[in-house]
Amino acid sequence: MGPSETSKQQIMTREGFWLFAYGSLMARPRLPWRGRMEATMPGWTRRFWQGSHDHRGRPGAPGRVLTLVPEPDRGAPPCVGFLYFLPPAVARGALTRLDYREKNGYVRTFHPVIDRFGTPREALVYLAGPGNPAWLGPAPLSDLAAQICAAEGPSGTNTAYLFDLHRTLARLGLEDPHVSDLVGAVRARLNPA
Ligand code: BEZ
Repeated sequence: MGPSETSKQQIMTREGFWLFAYGSLMARPRLPWRGRMEATMPGWTRRFWQGSHDHRGRPGAPGRVLTLVPEPDRGAPPCVGFLYFLPPAVARGALTRLDYREKNGYVRTFHPVIDRFGTPREALVYLAGPGNPAWLGPAPLSDLAAQICAAEGPSGTNTAYLFDLHRTLARLGLEDPHVSDLVGAVRARLNPA
């Protein structure tokens, strides 16, 4: 961790911080958050482009899990997720838990987000980008679906991860076209007509 990150961490533990959640952290944060609200992260979009060798797949047969990538289409809707506030008293412990939970290629990043009242904030976002050891990158929808149907790891099947996420987004009224298209392709593979 470099000096600027160290001072960033000092500020976060002194003042608390906002965490932007876009995937499994939306439904199961398992964190002592104080406040939660819907928020958007403009210019970024969900993609199943990160490999999972430790949860939803295995070494040599990775599953695919979510990350956020820059959205090249400037007219595209922003990624909608949740902001959690982690107050100073729990900030250090929350960072330790998050860092451990999101190992395997995810790193702490900081991005501008807009909360549901239109207030711009800076939030911590765990992202896995190109070049990390577990990165898989883009592939045709049918290949993504085939890999997800085949993968399973210590945390369960890759299809269960995808369907859970899809249910969470639907329950919150936050349907995401990439996730919905993938669910459609996986269902078609599992239940051929
Ligand atoms: C999230 O829900 O924000 C998240 C999901 C997977 C990895 C990292 C973060």
